Amino acid sequence: MKDQTSQYLCPYCSSKFDAFEDLKTHALSAHTGEPAPLPEGMIRLTLNGDKYQIQVQPEWTLNTLIHDKLGLTSPKMFCDRGACGSCTVIMNRRPILSCMTLAIECDGNTIETAEGIADQDHPLVETYVKHHAMQCGYCTPGFITTAKALLDKNPDPAEEEIREALGGNLCRCGTYPQHPKAIMEAAEILRDSEGGK
Ligand code: FES
Ligand code: FES
Repeated sequence: MKDQTSQYLCPYCSSKFDAFEDLKTHALSAHTGEPAPLPEGMIRLTLNGDKYQIQVQPEWTLNTLIHDKLGLTSPKMFCDRGACGSCTVIMNRRPILSCMTLAIECDGNTIETAEGIADQDHPLVETYVKHHAMQCGYCTPGFITTAKALLDKNPDPAEEEIREALGGNLCRCGTYPQHPKAIMEAAEILRDSEGGK
């Protein structure tokens, strides 16, 4: 994970600044007519190891913030009503639905997306490819984040436990039989690497 100093994000154009005053100066000159950023609207967030201070609008969901404003496209917006799991991210080690979570509620939280999991060279990426656990791939980041949270908690899950953990993730391409195989093999790789330390 990268160690990065906090960044202030413009709520109107997503430009990044190192200091709140610089953000305010930018917003007042580049976005005349829009409300000036206020320190009270700021949340602190650690996203895939990067630290941000971001002014969020009260109506933004976490998916709006991550996908639309910060440009991480892995949390997909499909049903927008908590029914499909395609928008899943890991927050404070638990899988959550980013379409059903307000960004303003996430102050101080640590969030992980499929981009962060791929950056760690997590074996799930390799085993998902090996076992063809995706077709169109739209649902895949949601499955991968759910699976990563499961393996963080339970390094040796039984097939039944995996199926239960994935119960909220839907796949229109019908890849369901492949996920337990990919996840159990990733778990084995992780246990072997832990044992070799
Ligand atoms: S888009 Fe969030 S659960 Fe479907
Ligand atoms: S792989 Fe297409 S929706 Fe799951």
